[in-house]
Amino acid sequence: MLENQSYLFNLPEDTTYLNCAYMSPMLKSVAQKGIHAIYGKEDPTSIKPEDFFNNTSQLREEFARLIEVANPNQCAIIPSVSYGMATVANNLKAGNRDNIVVTDEQFPSNVYAWHAMAQERGIEVKVVTPPLHEERGKHWNQSILEAINAQTKMVAIGHVHWADGTRFDLKAIRQRTREVGAILVIDGTQSIGALPFSVREFEPDAVIVAGYKWLMGPYSSGVAYYGDYFADGKPIENNWMNRLKSEEFANLVNYQDQYQPGSIRYEVGESANFILTPMLTEAIRQINAWGPENIQAYCSNLTDNYLRELQEMGFQVETPEYRGNHLFGIRLPEHLPLEPIKNYFARQKVFVSYRGNSIRVAPHVYNTAVDMEALMAGFHTKAFA
Ligand SMILES: Cc1ncc(COP(=O)(O)O)c(C=O)c1O
Repeated sequence: MLENQSYLFNLPEDTTYLNCAYMSPMLKSVAQKGIHAIYGKEDPTSIKPEDFFNNTSQLREEFARLIEVANPNQCAIIPSVSYGMATVANNLKAGNRDNIVVTDEQFPSNVYAWHAMAQERGIEVKVVTPPLHEERGKHWNQSILEAINAQTKMVAIGHVHWADGTRFDLKAIRQRTREVGAILVIDGTQSIGALPFSVREFEPDAVIVAGYKWLMGPYSSGVAYYGDYFADGKPIENNWMNRLKSEEFANLVNYQDQYQPGSIRYEVGESANFILTPMLTEAIRQINAWGPENIQAYCSNLTDNYLRELQEMGFQVETPEYRGNHLFGIRLPEHLPLEPIKNYFARQKVFVSYRGNSIRVAPHVYNTAVDMEALMAGFHTKAFA
């Protein structure tokens, strides 16, 4: 069992940080990598030509280990989810009257690209909404399966919903997409790093992850996986490093039509970023050392009893089967206003997120029972008596 890891972070003592879904705190080890890299450029000779390629391959290897990809070259370094999704849009074989299935209120970086395709190519974007009644997660999952039909060319979805943590049954969705010949694209930003995810198990066609949340990396760094569907695809930009034999600096103007192997063609220009790339590599190394299954166990152990208590008090929380332990919504009954608890948390420096009538809580291995007690105190205020 993983013990509390707060000693690896520098979180301020007077705050209760339950908002990793917004942004992770920086690991001390990751900050060290960044500082070392900043000062490294004071002497440019310390950055060797081979570092351009070692940096990137180390990050791909660490990410491939995390999501169980046998060949790290199928992974690619990207700056943002929107960038990774633009590559998907650029290579999706779909036209007039085909459709793309997404969930309601999905994060915009996994929506606008499809809106653009709808305008340009007459593709329909089918939005699957959740039910209002009991067993919300179960019925939402059923509706997703029902929305997939013979015209579906892609399901683009999270493993969990970013706003309330509802978990989607990727195995069932994969099976249904196979039946109709649609690709499955996962935005893993709110799950990968904290919730086990295996490309071997789910067999998605693409996985796109921003680095600054559950991967605990710096902002503007991310990683992706592109499978066989994208093997001969067209990148959205043409960077020299992504071309074959770019390691041979003396030969760079013998221009190359061929790409580096696998999905490296989809990497962002200057992917060797000597500051961000080693930082994200170190962050994922730490996550691999902890193990996402242990992070889930830690969060479950930390929160289970409190969530049960909240349910007994009349607040709605999704059943464990349809949510992660690292990200969940606590829904207030309709008649209770959100403002008083929001104001209370602001005064007490309890950091969570708010959405509609629901409070999004996102714990991690640096949180303790003291943090959960601070959260619970908000639900025990007079406003809820
Ligand atoms: C599910 C999800 N995807 C993506 C992002 C970030 O997207 P981008 O990297 O394009 O800024 C977020 C940020 O909150 C998110 O929650």
